[in-house]
Amino acid sequence: MSQPRIVVTRRIPQPALDLLAAHGDVWLSPHDRPLTREELFDAVTGADAIVCLLHDRIDDEVLDAAGPQLKVIANVAVGYNNVDTDAIARRGSVWFTNTPAVLTDATADIAMALILMTTRRLGEGERVIRSETPWVWSMFYMLGTGIQGKTLGIVGLGLIGQATARRAKAFGMEIIYSGRRQADPAIEQELGARYVSFDELLETADVVSLHCPLNAETQHLIDADRLRQMRSDAFLINTTRGPVVDEQALVDALRAGEIAGAGLDVFEEEPKVNPGLLELENAVLIPHLGSATVETRTAMGVLAAQNAVAVLGGEEPPTPVVRVG
Ligand code: GLV
Repeated sequence: MSQPRIVVTRRIPQPALDLLAAHGDVWLSPHDRPLTREELFDAVTGADAIVCLLHDRIDDEVLDAAGPQLKVIANVAVGYNNVDTDAIARRGSVWFTNTPAVLTDATADIAMALILMTTRRLGEGERVIRSETPWVWSMFYMLGTGIQGKTLGIVGLGLIGQATARRAKAFGMEIIYSGRRQADPAIEQELGARYVSFDELLETADVVSLHCPLNAETQHLIDADRLRQMRSDAFLINTTRGPVVDEQALVDALRAGEIAGAGLDVFEEEPKVNPGLLELENAVLIPHLGSATVETRTAMGVLAAQNAVAVLGGEEPPTPVVRVG
C-alpha cells in the first residue's frame, strides 16, 4: 500500500519531521520563506496531511487544490486566524488541529518581559547605551513606573492569560480580567483575579495585556475609543495577534500621551511595522517571539506531527479544533 503524502509547508524542528517521516512520505518545502499561493497549491496536491504555519492562509482554494483524499491539516501554532475553519468544517472529512498548551509558558514569559520593559523603559535605556548617548546616574534619571501593587487587566483569561497573571501576581500585581466567560472559581482564587466588564478593565488597569484570539469579534478590539478609555498613565501589552489593535490609532494615542506606553510582540501587517511606532521611545517592539524558544518550537512541531500522525492512523488527534464525525 502506498504511504500517505504529508506536506510540510516550511521547515519545522527535526523531531517533528522524524515523527512524520516514520508515518508517510514527507514533502518538505525547500524554501526558508512562506510559500506563494501557487507554490502552496502545487505542494498540497494529493496530500493526505498538511502541516502548516501561521503565515499560510488555508481556505477553500487550498482544500480544493489538495483534493478529496485530504484527512488532516495541522497548524503549528495555537492561534489559527490564518485558517478558514468554517471551510474545513463544511468538507466534513478533514480534521483541523492546533498546538495549545505547549507554548503557554514561553508566551507568558514574553508578556511579562514586555510589562517590565515598558514600565521600566528598558528599550529606551538600551538605545541610550548602544547609541553612545552621554548619560550619568542621577536620582531622577529615566524613572519608570513600579508595578508592585498596580493592577494588571488581562483581556481573555485563557491558558496564556492565566500564566501571565500568575507571573504578574508574583511581581506583586493585582489581577482583574474580562472576557466572554468568567473563569473557574478555583482559577480566580489562585490568581486572586476579579472578573470585570471590558469598560471597567480599560478604565482602571495600570497595564492592559491582550490574550484573546484574533477573530471577527476581536479585530480592532482596541481602537481609538478604547485607547481613550484607558488611563493616561497605563500601558498596553500585545502578545496575541497584531490586528486586535488598530496600530495607527495606537500610534496616535502614544503620540498624544493618551496612554503611557506599549509593548508589542505582534503587528497588524507582519513583518511590516507602522513607521510611527519606530519613532516612539515609549513603544517596545519585538518581532513575534512569543513561542520562540528551542524547547517550545520543538514541542509545537512534535504536537502538530502527533496530530497529523494520529489522524493518518485512524485515531483522534490530541488537540483538535475541527473534528470529523
Ligand atoms: C504563535 O503566535 C501561535 O499562535 O502559536
